[in-house]
Amino acid sequence: MVCTKMKLVYAFILVVGALCLYFSMEPFKELPFVLKKDQGKFLRLPDIDCKQKPPFLVLLVTSSHSQLAARMAIRKTWGRDTEVRGQHVRTFFLLGASDSTEEMDATAQESEQHRDIIQKDFKDVYFNLTLKTMMGMEWVHHFCPQATFVMKTDSDMFVNVGYLTELLLKKNKTSRFFTGYIKPNDLPIRQRFNKWFVSKFEYPWDRYPPFCSGTGYVFSSDVASQVYNVSESVPFLKLEDVFVGICLAKLKIRPEELHTKQTFFPGGLRFSVCRFQKIVACHFMKPQDLLIYWQALESSQEQDCPAV
Ligand SMILES: *[C@@H]1O[C@H](CO)[C@@H](O)[C@H](O)[C@H]1NC(C)=O
Ligand SMILES: *[C@@H]1O[C@H](CO)[C@@H](O)[C@H](O)[C@H]1NC(C)=O
Ligand SMILES: *[C@@H]1O[C@H](CO)[C@@H](O)[C@H](O)[C@H]1NC(C)=O
Repeated sequence: MVCTKMKLVYAFILVVGALCLYFSMEPFKELPFVLKKDQGKFLRLPDIDCKQKPPFLVLLVTSSHSQLAARMAIRKTWGRDTEVRGQHVRTFFLLGASDSTEEMDATAQESEQHRDIIQKDFKDVYFNLTLKTMMGMEWVHHFCPQATFVMKTDSDMFVNVGYLTELLLKKNKTSRFFTGYIKPNDLPIRQRFNKWFVSKFEYPWDRYPPFCSGTGYVFSSDVASQVYNVSESVPFLKLEDVFVGICLAKLKIRPEELHTKQTFFPGGLRFSVCRFQKIVACHFMKPQDLLIYWQALESSQEQDCPAV
């Protein structure tokens, strides 16, 4: 009797031990790998001839199939083809492939109509954001190296294209330039069940190199080619902004401030006309708010606001 009880205890310890071992080994399943350049085909390309008419600024907006309302709001607001001080600005959306034929068909139609979609055949899921960003870099490298600047941003953002253009013209740095909301020394999140968990096998060091919040960063277009080039030798990381930061560190390009005042707001910012006249990017923007805020800004005059 005692003997069977002991056997059961031993069996229990063995099972628990095996489970512990299994879970501690789990990160091994995510061994580091590197991205291959030229991976996958472009399914859709936008209507632009950068050689003929080089844009000053190209905005690349990560988006997913279901975010049609956001794309429509952006097309009507900051994503409109525009000229600022004679500088040409264009906006394109970055998409992957959906499992749903309906979504793929709808996107194909949308692309026919608006001709502003860049799409490749990787699976469009949140944790493929790095692939989406690198698709943007590849597109700039292959199809639009003539652009002066590129911004990578998201579909839930407000972007003040006019003010950004002004600041870029003032800064006048057109190579090896990278800016945004700088995170100088973020730590990897090591709690396994956190959405942004990164194992020591994926990233063994204690700190990330400086990077800019993925909500919106801006760079001179040569950086796209260089990041694309170096990406093959950087272990894949699902956090696209950190991944780009690691590429920049390899290239010895340091993110720098665009302006003496804060202009990128990844944490959001309460709207006021005067406030939004002097910012570049703001996160957590709903499509319907974007339309309202944009109209308020369009009908305002700079001189209505106190000089700062
Ligand atoms: C990312 O896309 C690739 C290529 O389509 C796919 O094999 C992979 O499963 C996707 N990643 C995730 C996390 O779903
Ligand atoms: C911009 O910088 C270049 C040199 O990098 C210089 O020749 C040019 O005058 C500058 N333009 C302005 C407007 O400051
Ligand atoms: C890409 O990398 C190779 C080798 O690392 C280098 O020789 C080449 O100049 C790079 N090209 C660009 C566009 O940076």
